[in-house]
Amino acid sequence: MSKPVPHWVWSRLVPAKMADCWLERLHFLGEGSLVLHRLAGRRSARLEAYLTHPSVGRLLLARFGGSLRRTSLPHNPSPEPNLPIRIGSKFWIVENAEAALPTGKPARAVLPFLTIPAGIAFGTGRHATTGMLLREMATLPDWRESRVLDIGTGSGILALAARRLGATRIWALDTDPSALEVARRNETANFSKATIRWVEADLTRWRARGRFHRIVANLYLLPLRQGASRLACWLAPGGVLLVSGLLRDQAPEIEARFLQEGLVLHGKKQRGKWAMLRFGSALHCHSTKAPLP
Ligand SMILES: C[S@@+](CC[C@H](N)C(=O)[O-])C[C@H]1O[C@@H](n2cnc3c(N)ncnc32)[C@H](O)[C@@H]1O
Repeated sequence: MSKPVPHWVWSRLVPAKMADCWLERLHFLGEGSLVLHRLAGRRSARLEAYLTHPSVGRLLLARFGGSLRRTSLPHNPSPEPNLPIRIGSKFWIVENAEAALPTGKPARAVLPFLTIPAGIAFGTGRHATTGMLLREMATLPDWRESRVLDIGTGSGILALAARRLGATRIWALDTDPSALEVARRNETANFSKATIRWVEADLTRWRARGRFHRIVANLYLLPLRQGASRLACWLAPGGVLLVSGLLRDQAPEIEARFLQEGLVLHGKKQRGKWAMLRFGSALHCHSTKAPLP
């Protein structure tokens, strides 16, 4: 009988409602190494990652807390292939340029595409919130002339998609410096020249210079609630604001909040328990607190 291989198990409790966000965030470990235990009658779920090397466990501990233990019981992952994602008729998202499209051809043979390798930042394109935003972005015209703002950029996927759609003036914010590092790397992997302004900043404190024709924000309820008046003021006349990261039951509150700021609701989409809202620009900006450009 072969000797059992030592494994390390990192684990922590996560809010059950946000479990799929955690799975997305830790996707880089390989879906097969993640196990989610839903706890009956509890609002938390236990997330476990089975690791073959303790250094990864120490990284997870330092970043996300939780606990790390050694076990000799192997978890036999059956890694799922990360299939390419088609964004309307505009582009594909693939893990690498050699990845095969459903036609059997490698992505590099069928332009255009974006390579987003699984990394520690949120944003592979597989999460429902990211997917809804990407597909909505692909329906919008006039990217070339637009000033674009991506708030909560994570892996940079939405900012990079804006660039793929033709935008040349893009700002992307995140509070997490390690996400911005990943995003910068993703830009240089996809474009010969880096042009996106990656900014370490909090939506609720950043001082915008000028308004934006397209704003995309895949955030959570709290920052959207707190940042609503700023987002409304930063939107240029005729501009479009896309927000997601909201659970379906949270969407009515955010919808009402943005309508209060004078925005016009142009559309709503839902996928599973997640919602996305699309707004048009305010008739006037009536917030005195938001930094006016
Ligand atoms: C759900 S991820 C979205 C990643 C990517 N944009 C996507 O659509 O897949 C949210 C990101 O927002 C960032 N974030 C959270 N609160 C923020 C805030 N107040 N200001 C700026 N970024 C924030 C987080 O660090 C995280 O990277």
